[in-house]
Formats: sequence, C-alpha cells, structure tokens
Amino acid sequence: MSNESSNSFENVSIIVGVSGSIAAYKAADLVSKLKQAGADVHVVMTRAAQELVGPMTFHSLSMNAVHTDLFPEGGSDKPYHIDLVDHADLMLIAPATANVIGKIAAGIGDEILSTTALAAYDMPMIFAPAMNVRMYQNPLVRRNIKTLEDSGFIQVEPEEGYLACGYIGKGRMAAVETILAVVERTLIETKGLERRYPKLH
Ligand SMILES: Cc1cc2nc3c(=O)[nH]c(=O)nc-3n(C[C@H](O)[C@H](O)[C@H](O)COP(=O)(O)O)c2cc1C
Repeated sequence: MSNESSNSFENVSIIVGVSGSIAAYKAADLVSKLKQAGADVHVVMTRAAQELVGPMTFHSLSMNAVHTDLFPEGGSDKPYHIDLVDHADLMLIAPATANVIGKIAAGIGDEILSTTALAAYDMPMIFAPAMNVRMYQNPLVRRNIKTLEDSGFIQVEPEEGYLACGYIGKGRMAAVETILAVVERTLIETKGLERRYPKLH
C-alpha cells in the first residue's frame, strides 16, 4: 500500500468473500491488513471455506461478525446479503474458487457468498482466483472468468509457482500485497462515482 494514499481505506466498508480454496488462510492476512489500513471489513464465508479456516479467525481480525449462513438461526431484520451490500463500498472475493466463479458467472446465488455477490453488482467487484493449474486452464473456468470480467469484475490474476497440491503452474492466489494494491487503486478510481442504489450510512 502506498503511503501517500494510505487513507483511501478510511471510512470505506469492504465485503470480503472467502471461498473454499487452500489459499483461504491467506485471506486472514488480507483482512488484517485491510483493517489496519482503516477499512471496515465484513467477511462472508462459504461452507467449504469454513472447513479450511475457522470464522473466529476472521471475526477477531475484522472485529465484525462473520456471515456464514443465508438463513441464520433466529433470522435477521434484513437479510444479511442485502444489509451488507447496502452499507459497503466494494466487494472482494479472495480466494475465489472455480466453483464460486462459475456460480456467479451463471447468476446463481445458493449460499451467502454467491448471493451477496449477485446483490453487489453495482459496486466495484474484485476477485482473486486460486486453484490448481488444471482447473485454472479448464476452458469452462476460463469462460466463467471472462464472463465476470465482461460484466465489470476485476480479476487479480493468480501467480505461477508452487501450488499446494504439489504442482508447479499458474493458479496460486496473487500475493496479499498485490491484491491490496488493486483494491486501493480501485477505491481511488471509483471514489465519488454514483451507484445505481446508493450506499446507506
Ligand atoms: C484441501 C482442499 C483444497 C481445495 N482448494 C481449492 C482451490 O484452491 N481452488 C478451488 O477452486 N477449489 C479448491 N478445492 C475444492 C473446493 O473446496 C470445492 O470445489 C468446493 O465445493 C468449493 O466450494 P465454495 O466455492 O462454495 O467455497 C479444494 C478442496 C480441498 C479439499
């Protein structure tokens, strides 16, 4: 993050969607750094993500409740996915699995993360894919990524390198610093732009 614009995160509310990639542990660092930079961070996690990292980690780092369920016990006054989007400036999905990318590209919202992403279409949307190189090169995944990009989503491309499953190739989630730089640049570029449904304060 650049020093001169380090306050681009202040008074900014960011939804961080964490899906079930082995890179989910890196999202903890991402959330911590966003919080330290001054952002209000709200994490939503898929069920698969919770198999890999506990919600309590994100709760502690973001100092906000973590949303793991579309239908929380006891209900909520306003559905979480709408309430989150009403108060957010930007949504970041990191890591983004092949599954979650495919669902959003197809307009499917069948759990908290994909449903929130569908509701968030009028705000800046960034996604950082993370998957095995075989999955990243799959023509179906390439098509889904292109669909998201054509719809205005900003992809932070994965890196080449050692992958958790022992492969060498492209698919490792971009470095946390790279993702933060894209978030910061996007916040600067979209500051003051009107949304179709303005943010509620
Ligand atoms: C240990 C482990 C690591 C995984 N890592 C990835 C990954 O990096 N990227 C990916 O697309 N899927 C990965 N998967 C598969 C996803 O978890 C699986 O497709 C799941 O249904 C994704 O659900 P979600 O998109 O709702 O989080 C992994 C599965 C396991 C068991």
